[in-house]
Amino acid sequence: MKSFKELQIDLRQMILAIETAVDLVGMNDTNHGKRVAYIASQIAHNLGFSEQDTQYIFELGLLHDCGVSTQQMHSSLVNHFDWEDAHIHCEIGYNLLKNFDPLSKFAIPIRYHHTFFEELKNINISTYDARMANLIFLSDRIDVTAASHYGSDILLAKTTIVKHIQDCSGTFFDPKLVDAFLKIERSEAFWIALEDRHITRYTWDMGQFESSSIITISQIKQLSLILAYIVDQKSPFTAQHSARVGSLAKYISSIYGLSDEQCQKVEIAGFLHDIGKLRTPDDILEKPGKLTDIERSIMDQHSYETYEILRHIDGLGEISSWAAFHHEGLNGAGYPFHPSEKDLSVEARIIAVADIFQALVQDRPYRKGMTLEKVLDILNEFTDSGKLDENIVKVVEKNSEKCFEIAKGEAQENKESEFPFSLGRIM
Ligand SMILES: [Fe+2]
Ligand SMILES: [Fe+2]
Ligand SMILES: [Fe+2]
Repeated sequence: MKSFKELQIDLRQMILAIETAVDLVGMNDTNHGKRVAYIASQIAHNLGFSEQDTQYIFELGLLHDCGVSTQQMHSSLVNHFDWEDAHIHCEIGYNLLKNFDPLSKFAIPIRYHHTFFEELKNINISTYDARMANLIFLSDRIDVTAASHYGSDILLAKTTIVKHIQDCSGTFFDPKLVDAFLKIERSEAFWIALEDRHITRYTWDMGQFESSSIITISQIKQLSLILAYIVDQKSPFTAQHSARVGSLAKYISSIYGLSDEQCQKVEIAGFLHDIGKLRTPDDILEKPGKLTDIERSIMDQHSYETYEILRHIDGLGEISSWAAFHHEGLNGAGYPFHPSEKDLSVEARIIAVADIFQALVQDRPYRKGMTLEKVLDILNEFTDSGKLDENIVKVVEKNSEKCFEIAKGEAQENKESEFPFSLGRIM
C-alpha cells in the first residue's frame, strides 16, 4: 500500500475529472467542456497568447460549467442562445471556486462567462479576466450553435454558424476575438476536430501536459469537496449528502482505530463516492415513489460512473475503489463489481456504513429522515443479512449519538466540509 506522503496528484488531472463529472450531466449531449476548451485555445493561439495563457484558457474552458448540476439547467443553456437565467450557473461556479486555491484564479471569468461584451466594460474587473470571460462566452456559444451538426453536416452548416456569431460581434462578443475566430474557422480541420472522438483524443493529449503543480493532500481534499458540492446540489434531497458522508466516514475511521492518514483518505473517498450520480436523470433522483425496474437499473449505474471518473486520476490509487465500492455488500449482494469479502477493504466497508447512515437520516422524496433508533435497527438488519461489517456497525452503535449529529450536519466535525456559501435553490 502506498504511504500517505506518496499521494501525489497532478492538478490538470483533477481539472479533467471535474470536467468529466460535469459532462455527465449532459447525458447524450457530451464533451461540451472539452470543445469549449479546444475552441478557446485555438482562438488564443491565433491571437498570439503566451503558452501559459493558452494553458490557462484551456483549463478555464474545461471548468467553465462547473456550476451546472441538473439536466434541466444544462438543456436550457444548450437550447437557448441567450437564456435569461444563464447567470445562475455562473454565480454557482464562481462561488464553488473562489475560495479554493489553486482554482480561485478561474472564479471571476466563470462569473462573467455569459456577460455581454458591451456590459463587461462597466464591470470592475481586470482587462485580463474580462477578455478570458468573453473568450469562453464566444467559444461556448460557437459550440452550442454547432452542436447538432458534429459528425454529420458540420462543413455545410458552418457558414450559417459563422454568420450567427458574426452578427453578435460588438454586442455579445469582443470584435477582436470574433475576428480571430473568423481566421481559424476557414480551415475544415478546425470543425472536424470538434467531433466527439477527435475532441476526446485532443483533450487526452492535453491532459498529458504537465503544467501543473502536484497538489497537496489538503488541496486534494478541497477539490474533492468541490466535486461533492457539484453532485450534492443536483437535488435538494441530496443536499450536503456527499460532504456529510465524507465527515461521517472520517469519524467512523477514527473511532475504529485507523491512522490519521487513512482517516483523511477515507474522508476524500466519502466526498467523491456519489459523483457518478451526475449522470442519473433529475426525475429519477427526485421521484416521490418507488423506482421502476428500468429506473432502478439506471440509478444503479452511478457507482460505476464514479469509478470511471476517479480511475483516471493517477495517484488517487485505492481511494477510487473505496469510493466506487460503496454499494457493495460483504455477502456479494451489492453492485456493480461484487468483490469478494477479502477484497472489500475496511475503508470501503466504512464508507458503505456512512453512506447508508447518512441517507437514512436525510429526507428523501419518498420518505422523511429517520430517527436514530430506526437507523440503528436498519444497520443491524444489514449486518444480520451479511451486507455490512458487524464490527464497524458495533463501533457506530457505541458512538451513535455523535454519528447522528454528524450525519445531520450538526457536529463540530461538519464545520470543515459544509458549503462555505449559500447556493439557495437553483432552479
Ligand atoms: Fe457552457
Ligand atoms: Fe451511491
Ligand atoms: Fe451516497
